[in-house]
Amino acid sequence: MRIAILGGSGRMGSALALRLANAGHHVLVGSRDARRACETAGLLGPAVSGGAPLEGALLRDAAAAADVVVVAVPDAGHAAVLRQVASALRGRVVLDCCVCRDPRDPGTWRRPAEGSAAARARRLAPRSAAVAAALHTVGAESLRRPGRHTPGDVLVAADGAAAREAAGLVASALGLRWWEAGDLGVAGSLEQMACMLSRLSARHGAPAPTIRLHGLERAARDGPGPRADLAAVAQRGGGM
Ligand SMILES: NC(=O)c1ccc[n+]([C@@H]2O[C@H](COP(=O)([O-])OP(=O)(O)OC[C@H]3O[C@@H](n4cnc5c(N)ncnc54)[C@H](OP(=O)(O)O)[C@@H]3O)[C@@H](O)[C@H]2O)c1
Repeated sequence: MRIAILGGSGRMGSALALRLANAGHHVLVGSRDARRACETAGLLGPAVSGGAPLEGALLRDAAAAADVVVVAVPDAGHAAVLRQVASALRGRVVLDCCVCRDPRDPGTWRRPAEGSAAARARRLAPRSAAVAAALHTVGAESLRRPGRHTPGDVLVAADGAAAREAAGLVASALGLRWWEAGDLGVAGSLEQMACMLSRLSARHGAPAPTIRLHGLERAARDGPGPRADLAAVAQRGGGM
């Protein structure tokens, strides 16, 4: 699957890029600056085993070349980035992990007018794009050093089955369990949960608190995650 990471030069984006490339996906590190995109890809490349391509590109080019477009930019630039790439999102799955925080107090959620960053992405993306919200409560540090941090579960909110399935595939590629949380209307709650984890982290000095659901193990055994394979999702592309 070709996965573009908008904000791929950042903490979350670069951690996602590395993990997804190591899971065998073709990753496009998207940046506002072509040189920064290529430098980041160059830095991450040597840590990728298995030969999956990892390359840098400007935001719009990265989105245009991908099946799934992960939005990993801060709230401050979120709307501008979505507007910039909007026409390249036709028929793509947009996977948004942006948390709208109060910049002066990262433990406090700042509700956007649409209710969540993902709902804003839904408003700005073309109708043919599918939108999911996920990964808010997965810290970049826990992706970079999975051995040192307990991997959390991923809660997915989506505007339909295709987006939900693609988000689940990404979570699975990261080695994480994922659960359907509901439609995009619950994305704001996922953002609030991420802010709550930040508050707990600050209060207790725990670098990467995560969320793990218990009581659903039977469902996990029965296969909560994706039923389609990665190739099928990539193949469907625009039809998703
Ligand atoms: N860090 C985490 O652990 C974590 C976990 C879950 C979710 N998230 C979410 O992921 C997103 C990124 O977080 P982060 O910690 O990775 O942030 P970050 O490192 O500060 O920024 C990520 C990238 O976004 C781009 N960017 C920064 N400011 C921008 C602006 N005003 N307009 C457009 N692009 C801008 C930059 O890329 P270029 O300059 O190269 O374009 C930057 O490298 C946030 O929405 C955050 O809530 C983060």
